[in-house]
Amino acid sequence: MSRLGVNIDHVATLRQARRAKYPDPLAAALIAERAGADQITVHLRGDRRHIQDHDLFRLQASVQTFLNVEAACTDDMFAVLDQVRPHRVTLVEERPGEVTTEGGLDVVRHRDEVAAFCARLQAIGIRIALFVDPDDEQIAQSCLLPGVDTVELNTAAYAETGAADELARLAKACLRAREMDLMVAAGHGLTLHNLGALVRAAPGIEEYNIGHALIGDAVFLGLDESVRRYKAACRGA
Ligand code: PXP
Repeated sequence: MSRLGVNIDHVATLRQARRAKYPDPLAAALIAERAGADQITVHLRGDRRHIQDHDLFRLQASVQTFLNVEAACTDDMFAVLDQVRPHRVTLVEERPGEVTTEGGLDVVRHRDEVAAFCARLQAIGIRIALFVDPDDEQIAQSCLLPGVDTVELNTAAYAETGAADELARLAKACLRAREMDLMVAAGHGLTLHNLGALVRAAPGIEEYNIGHALIGDAVFLGLDESVRRYKAACRGA
């Protein structure tokens, strides 16, 4: 049974739309955990468009499950992560002006820069995941980097197209990563409609990180019911 990481960025998006105090991402995290979330995931963006530094400190103090922070390899991020010390950091590519994360981190092209950042995180005892496209070369390079024990496979191409070959690409990448003793997570663009087929095609995926659709569904269903439905979908139900 795969774990569900609930990404609560868009609770903060709603709050920041008014620069108000609510809705509070911490309150969302606690409801999500009570409804069965195995992990809370947040993306601290360089432009701080949703999650703020103070959210991370509050989440780290109160999350009972596991706090996974997505961040780019910058000195600004390292300074915050060093203070917060989340359980795990997932390194992502951030392009200026993008609406959402557009692609996996290119660990082949940026090997030296990513390796140096991983070494800094490893030195302070933070577990490391890399968000990569489902590509053999990216996975082979990921397992060589210091402190990396997890790859999160980028599911955007599958989510956008629903194509069988994208599903097959994810299943193959998952097997390759498992052969290299990496833990496999997946995320981006997953919904209640496209999750089931992926769970069945790639049973080796141990964790799903889902935000936009889960929070969107929560507007109509309530957050606890939305989390329960995604959790059931992660079980292949
Ligand atoms: N995983 C990573 C690495 C991401 O950057 C995101 C988006 O912030 C997600 C998962 C969740 O994607 P979505 O919001 O489309 O479910």
